[in-house]
Amino acid sequence: MNKADYLIIGSGIAGLTLAIRLAERFPDRAIVIVTKANEEDSNTQYAQGGIAIVLDDTTDSYEKHIRDTLICGDGLCDESVVRMVVTDGPKRFRELLDWGARFDRGGYGHFDLGKEGGHSESRVLHHKDQTGAEIERAILAKVRQLENITVLDHFFAVDVVMCDGSCIGVTVLHEKTSELVQLYAGFTILATGGIGQVYGHTTNPLIATGDGVAMAHRANAQILDMEFIQFHPTAFYEKKAGAAFLISEAVRGFGALLKTKEGRRFMPDYDSRGELASRDIVSQSIHAELEKTGDDCVYLDCTHLNHEKFMAHFPMIHRYCMDHGVDIRKDWIPVLPAQHYLCGGIVVDEHGRTSIDGLLACGECSRTGLHGANRLASNSLLEALVYSHQIYAYLERQMPKPYGVPPKTTRIAKPTVNALFVTGYRRKLHELMLRHVGIVRRDSGLALAANSIAQWEKEITSLISTHAPSVALYETLNMLQVAGLIVSASRERTENRGGFVKIS
Ligand code: FAD
Ligand code: SIN
Repeated sequence: MNKADYLIIGSGIAGLTLAIRLAERFPDRAIVIVTKANEEDSNTQYAQGGIAIVLDDTTDSYEKHIRDTLICGDGLCDESVVRMVVTDGPKRFRELLDWGARFDRGGYGHFDLGKEGGHSESRVLHHKDQTGAEIERAILAKVRQLENITVLDHFFAVDVVMCDGSCIGVTVLHEKTSELVQLYAGFTILATGGIGQVYGHTTNPLIATGDGVAMAHRANAQILDMEFIQFHPTAFYEKKAGAAFLISEAVRGFGALLKTKEGRRFMPDYDSRGELASRDIVSQSIHAELEKTGDDCVYLDCTHLNHEKFMAHFPMIHRYCMDHGVDIRKDWIPVLPAQHYLCGGIVVDEHGRTSIDGLLACGECSRTGLHGANRLASNSLLEALVYSHQIYAYLERQMPKPYGVPPKTTRIAKPTVNALFVTGYRRKLHELMLRHVGIVRRDSGLALAANSIAQWEKEITSLISTHAPSVALYETLNMLQVAGLIVSASRERTENRGGFVKIS
């Protein structure tokens, strides 16, 4: 367990698919996956809409998908990366099918292709409205068949271990024993996912605390584009802010219309694509409408849609609405934007290498240049698949590195921290981020946020030094550091791009 040729942090689509590739190619090498909760706990598990891939070349083309991605990224995508990811998509999708993931089919057995905001064509492959859960199921099953992969669940990665400027492994906290263990590896890959919990009002699950970005930042890896936080326009509105259930963009692709409380359809006033404008534009338009009306939310009207077909495509959304008193045949769904995705992150090259030797990054925690200032819907699962292959292809050409250092275990006899006290910091951070670092940011609010975050970071760092190791403390430090990166990047950017709107 402590010997790893390849040490992967995270068991979402990025980490698991990389592990499968490496394990199949090198049956005699050891692959260790460290994951902080249950194996399946990940943003991947929650993905609804699907994966954007050009399969049908009768109406669609790579050039159209490339153009849609570039337009959505508002001038900040790296075009060579966009080209590589889009054209590699079909091959990576076939691997996913070989690993056992199932996707919906329509007439004549062809894959059913959904449409989402910013896409000029229908090209989103899906498994009803639970695409991520189906992918996670299939790749976890595959991982379990491969004997040279060890999954360490409930192990929390704390920091990368550095030696002479190179990464040689990771310090992990074994949650059950409260021991800090150093795991050494030839190559370490961060696949730790998103940052939603920094905002609290998010579509992301509890694991999304930006740990990988914070770890890489502490090790001085290059981090970029942190100001480009994507807010999904349509999270189910509930009075109590917090975890937000997503109403997939595919629902708008299916024909649902956004309306104010009075029933006024407003999106055509903002963009000729109406409800299918890109996410940044739809979220900003909702924000503008709510500022005008003072309402708490807007509404998604599905009453005119074919109910049978809706239920077949969106059974989970349908059930959630019913359970919350919304019958989509006659009621409109109350929705509000919520934090959804980090477009920036740990800078990687085309092989997934960070600026630190021996350390690579894959998936949502990485910044490849694909998304620019705003990610095109359903391009995230695609990016993770393509880059796990890019990393694999790079590692395949590298000699394995020795990792023979015995693991170092530290048990620290210090008092345990009061969990309620730590939760208080999270609550304060959530309020601050939603108020000053949301869809629209002001210089004055950002300055205030920077001061508070710096102060809280000092306090949490001091608690870490005087208390026993605790996931709650480490996560809170990570969230504060990620918040600090978002705020400083937001202060530095002077022009509005994609998902970023600043008012002086
Ligand atoms: P994740 O799937 O989040 O996996 C991260 C892993 O790292 C987890 O296992 C976590 O436990 C582990 N981890 C984190 N920190 C640590 C630590 N310190 N120590 C140990 N382990 C750690 N994208 C699309 O393309 N199409 C969609 O339809 C779509 N729908 C979405 C719907 C929702 C509700 C959400 C939240 C996201 C959606 N996305 C979608 C985005 C997409 O799901 C994610 O960007 C993608 O799944 C990220 O994959 P990942 O492997 O990088 O990270
Ligand atoms: C959705 O289903 O709306 C989410 C798609 C995505 O995040 O790409």
